[in-house]
Formats: sequence, structure tokens, C-alpha cells
Amino acid sequence: MKNAEKFQDFINSLVKEDAMIKVNKKQSLEEETEWLRGKIKQIKNKKEVALIAEYKDKIVGNTQIGLDWGRQEHIGDFGIAIRKGFRNLGLGTYLAKEVIKLAKKELKPRPKIIRLSAYATNKSAITFYNNLSFKEVARIPKQGKIKGKLVTEVIMLLEL
Ligand SMILES: CC(C)(COP(=O)(O)OP(=O)(O)OC[C@H]1O[C@@H](n2cnc3c(N)ncnc32)[C@H](O)[C@@H]1OP(=O)(O)O)[C@@H](O)C(=O)NCCC(=O)NCCS
Repeated sequence: MKNAEKFQDFINSLVKEDAMIKVNKKQSLEEETEWLRGKIKQIKNKKEVALIAEYKDKIVGNTQIGLDWGRQEHIGDFGIAIRKGFRNLGLGTYLAKEVIKLAKKELKPRPKIIRLSAYATNKSAITFYNNLSFKEVARIPKQGKIKGKLVTEVIMLLEL
């Protein structure tokens, strides 16, 4: 499989299971190729780091930290997803720790804070982030529409 197809298959597997992430529509190969091009540019410019885990030619985990900009350039935005069937094995914890190490090493400037957001209904993700020492700092109501209801967004920080 070509790289863009692998990423497309991964994101669309999350869309199909209605995972509690922002993306909720299947991505076309064109959209995914464009997204991947943008990511590669950011990585080359030392503004983003990313790791994937693969099993038998399929992406089963993806994580990234991208620097914010301007006065907020000291903040790295964190994201992670593990494919259904590969969760609760420790893969997310492993990838998260490794991508944070990579961010400290590679990103210019070196981030001082890692920031993430999760929907409050995504209890297992919030427990996962608490276990990684992220601290909840804010709650914004009515941010994500999940199964027809508006849910709160939780903002969490990890000081490096
Ligand atoms: C949230 C998410 C990234 C966590 O990844 P994961 O690989 O399942 O996480 P881990 O396996 O490292 O840890 C999860 C649980 O497994 C346990 N675990 C860790 N290593 C383990 C091991 N070797 N054996 C058994 N269990 C283990 C952890 O203690 C943790 O349990 P707890 O939550 O009850 O404390 C994953 O569930 C996911 O991708 N969800 C869908 C997408 C999503 O919601 N992304 C986040 C958006 S904000």
C-alpha cells in the first residue's frame, strides 16, 4: 500500500467506529495526500514530530506534536490515536512517551508545554492522559457534537 493510502485507511477506520476525535467524515485519497504533504513540510521545518506504529503493513497507531506559532510557539499540540483492536496493550503510552522525547530533541524552539484537548465523554482518553501526568486546566462547554449532543472539551497541559 502507498503511504497516503495507509494513512487514509487508518483515519477512516477511526471515522467508521465513530471515535471521539474531531474528524468525523471519511477522507478521500486526495484529501489525505494533501494533509500528508502539509505534515511532511512541518516536520522538515522542525515544527512537528510524528510517530506511527505499523502491524502487517497497516498503521495501528499515530501520534504527533506540532508547535503553535507566534507568542505561543513554546506550546506543542499533542494528538494520538490507536487503531481499534490494538488498544489497552500499552502502545499508546509507549508512543506518547517517545513522541514527547522526540519533541524535546527535534523541535525548534524546544517546547516548554505540551497541550491537548479531549472530549469530556472520552473517559478512557482522559484517564490515559492523567496517567501520563497531563493536568486538566480548562473545560469549554458545547464544543464537539457527538451522537447529536454537544459535549465539553477538556484542555490538558504537561509542563516539560
Ligand atoms: C486513548 C488511546 C490513545 C489510548 O491508547 P492505548 O494504546 O489504548 O493506551 P494504553 O494501552 O497505553 O493505556 C490504556 C490502558 O491500558 C493499560 N495498559 C498499559 N500498558 C498495558 C499492558 N502492557 N498490558 C495491559 N494493560 C496495559 C493502562 O494502564 C491503561 O489502563 P487504564 O486507562 O485503565 O489506566 C486509545 O484508546 C485511542 O486511540 N482511542 C481512540 C482515539 C482517541 O480517542 N484518541 C484520543 C483523542 S483525545
